[in-house]
Amino acid sequence: MVISEDARTAIDAEIRKYPQRRGALLPALHIVQKELGHLAPETARELAEIFEIKPVDVMEVVSFYNMFYAEPQGRHHVHVCTNLPCSLRGARGLMRKIEAHLEIDAGETTKDGRITLGHEECLGACAYAPMMRIDETYHENLDLEEAKRILDELE
Ligand code: FES
Repeated sequence: MVISEDARTAIDAEIRKYPQRRGALLPALHIVQKELGHLAPETARELAEIFEIKPVDVMEVVSFYNMFYAEPQGRHHVHVCTNLPCSLRGARGLMRKIEAHLEIDAGETTKDGRITLGHEECLGACAYAPMMRIDETYHENLDLEEAKRILDELE
């Protein structure tokens, strides 16, 4: 079993809030990901048993939302918005330079496990482009030097 008893208790409490078990799948995914860091196939199999659905049904939800991760992640999520308004202010070029600085491509995790890098859709901060979100914090009006300084300070 990869899902702890505490997580199972929390999931059962969520299930009781919904008329159908399956309604609690999203909260359950949040609970389990918070505990385990990502949602691996064996976790999906356990969740499928709990929700009386197929593992593929769980993985479909995991793969649909970009807030869920099927693979192990870095300690920090760095998401650079590369939507059009940010791109018009240099976000795509900034992303390429960040990839070079971190020696990874978007979608990958640094060798030291510090950072998983990704593209982001509009975060509503277009007026302050280019910008990136690190975990829950926005960093705006970036240039490469500022982005590197912020990234290098991450533990
Ligand atoms: Fe980047 Fe809106 S397009 S924050």
